[in-house]
Amino acid sequence: MQDDILSIAGLSKTYASGFQALKNVDLQIMRGEIFALLGPNGAGKTTLISIVCGIVTPSAGRVLVDGHDIAAAWRAARSLIGLVPQELTTDAFETVWNTVSFSRGLFGKPAAPAHIEKVLKDLSLWDKKDNQIRTLSGGMKRRLLIAKALSHEPKLLFLDEPTAGVDVTLREGMWQLVRSLRETGVTIILTTHYIDEAEDMADRIGVINKGEIILVEDKAELMRKLGKKQLTLQLAQPLGRIPGSLAAHPLELTGGGSELTYTYDAKSEHSGIAALLQDVDDAGIAFKDLQTKQSSLEDIFVSLVRERET
Ligand SMILES: Nc1ncnc2c1ncn2[C@@H]1O[C@H](COP(=O)(O)OP(=O)(O)O)[C@@H](O)[C@H]1O
Ligand SMILES: [Mg+2]
Repeated sequence: MQDDILSIAGLSKTYASGFQALKNVDLQIMRGEIFALLGPNGAGKTTLISIVCGIVTPSAGRVLVDGHDIAAAWRAARSLIGLVPQELTTDAFETVWNTVSFSRGLFGKPAAPAHIEKVLKDLSLWDKKDNQIRTLSGGMKRRLLIAKALSHEPKLLFLDEPTAGVDVTLREGMWQLVRSLRETGVTIILTTHYIDEAEDMADRIGVINKGEIILVEDKAELMRKLGKKQLTLQLAQPLGRIPGSLAAHPLELTGGGSELTYTYDAKSEHSGIAALLQDVDDAGIAFKDLQTKQSSLEDIFVSLVRERET
């Protein structure tokens, strides 16, 4: 589609070891969205990002960045991309200011001290601008990687596990920055295994497992379609087993027999709760309390990936 800033078609990667890390991946990223790519360790997230950024050579397939083929028009494509890598890699003795300015120069962009200053200020690194990188804390080094990635004003920003090992306050600052970047028109693709972050941040979610994209969905739609609700009844007396008269209901005995848990579709209009409560009452089961809970993206993700294993 014309409005896709990134278009990936038939992308595969087999490493020299013979391991196939990506299998025929198709993915379209829309201009201006925040897209979260979720997947367990080893799923192929970093491989996918590395191919788009030109660090890893694909075995097959085509990647267009804002219409520029990464194979045929490499420099044009790469200059549109900012990459915040998963691994911290920076030279220890360079200063913050120099390393960020140098990054910009690598993309053939003219010096822009005002831009570099803004980036460093946004990332709370301004007072460290003359410090050598080796003197920075881990969190600062991670922010420095973001500053480097933003140095040349990319249109497409990849954040590969940006908050791994970053403390909570810093994480929040980072997400603030990501949101404000999006407001300036930057498209953001992030990988994370903090699923609650994806749940907060993303417009769309992709799930990758064993090198295959198994789902791409609008976040709200995903939560609606796959979300489950649970009703838990705290019983007055523990039960040894679920009475036969309740067999028609999808119930589980939990909490060592002290709770009955009922799972139903979040989207269905008929939850079945009224009938359940009637049947529970008829069976002479008393309960002292009840709670409902909606599944999180994490529950959905775990069940999707598990489905594939079996
Ligand atoms: N250079 C490499 N050579 C061989 N196998 C690799 C190489 N890099 C990654 N892999 C393998 O490819 C798979 C996907 O890795 P990666 O893309 O880093 O996954 P993720 O980022 O989702 O954790 C893993 O099984 C990993 O061990
Ligand atoms: Mg990775």
